[in-house]
Amino acid sequence: MGITLSDEEQAALAGALGPGVRKAMEIVVGLGRIYRARRLLPVGSVQVAGVSYRNLGEAGLDFLRQWADQSARVRVPTTLNPAGVDLRLWRELGFSESFARHQEAVIEAYRRLGVRTTCTCTPYMVGNVPRLGEHVAWAESSAVSYANSVLGARTNREGGPSALAAAITGRVAAYGLHLDENRRATLRVSVRCAVRTLSDFGALGYLVGRSARNRVPYFVGLEGACSEVALRALGAAMAASGAVALYHVGGVTPEAGQPDILAPDHEDLVVDDLGPAYEALNRDAGGDGVDLVWLGCPHAGTDEITEVVRLLAGRRVRSALWITTARETRAEAEASGLVSAIGASGGRVLADMCVVVAPMQELGFHTLATPSAKGATYVPSHAGLRVRYGTVEQCVEAAVTGFWSG
Ligand code: F3S
Repeated sequence: MGITLSDEEQAALAGALGPGVRKAMEIVVGLGRIYRARRLLPVGSVQVAGVSYRNLGEAGLDFLRQWADQSARVRVPTTLNPAGVDLRLWRELGFSESFARHQEAVIEAYRRLGVRTTCTCTPYMVGNVPRLGEHVAWAESSAVSYANSVLGARTNREGGPSALAAAITGRVAAYGLHLDENRRATLRVSVRCAVRTLSDFGALGYLVGRSARNRVPYFVGLEGACSEVALRALGAAMAASGAVALYHVGGVTPEAGQPDILAPDHEDLVVDDLGPAYEALNRDAGGDGVDLVWLGCPHAGTDEITEVVRLLAGRRVRSALWITTARETRAEAEASGLVSAIGASGGRVLADMCVVVAPMQELGFHTLATPSAKGATYVPSHAGLRVRYGTVEQCVEAAVTGFWSG
């Protein structure tokens, strides 16, 4: 049986709302046919990825401009993933004017499409907060994981064009994680070691993601240990190492208590040692020198920035220290004096950007330290830097001394 469309959806597919909407509806319906969806669903919000000019290039920018020229506009609240540079501070950081201008052109194309142009991978911290059970279309693996798992919203891991098509049509095809039957846990993970720090949660996520192979994990043994920031780290790590888009934590996440949440044919995994994750993520570190410390992957909240200020205790940093966050969060941190406290130590609070999609080769760094397992997974291949992975405390000490102490 094929996909059934409403009269309104059929008209949009036939071009009644213009060529831009028709193109978007063709993408949504095309995906629905590939995944054997029976109908479309209205979406409450969209998170679009594919923002850095480094990834899009001229072809991607042209694609966005053409869509905007066809009068396509988003129909639901739509937010953007991080860009390649801080749109305000790129010059001070040393990024090239050429890249920054192209990046601004990308943002302008999204603005013409009606997208809110704050660029963050934590849109749920700046007002795009889906409700429990709400269907959304999000791209950005860590945000998808958070929306599905912690908020209990429903989204597949969209690509850039498919998310934008969902925003322009207000629809997504009903398949994958939009359906009850695909949200049951298929891998029970018994955690039998201490998981305390942010980097421990990232290490756990890294290990489980590598074993998950498209299964939905259900964690046992984390009750009472999970803050929101810990869940962000856990989900982001699993998304990076194993494309996990949904997980449940017994006693913590909203769908974990549902009857039959654990599929009868689930498999079991025991994690009793996080050491292998720390070893794997530090494997290519090279020497002990660190010239860039990166926190805020996923983008930091003011609580995380406050913690860095506390750990710095007024000391000057020898290496570069970057904390990436959303524009709105930086404004909040500016108002409360956190940005100037970080600045007084020689660090920076950066908005709208992510190191992984930045043109880092323009800056000449060699070794980056981070407490983010997702960052540590992607930085060597995407940013071309060596990586040190450890606790927030270790990273702040590395910023102060310029050296890693394990
Ligand atoms: Fe966000 Fe970039 Fe990390 S998109 S989750 S800061 S790799």
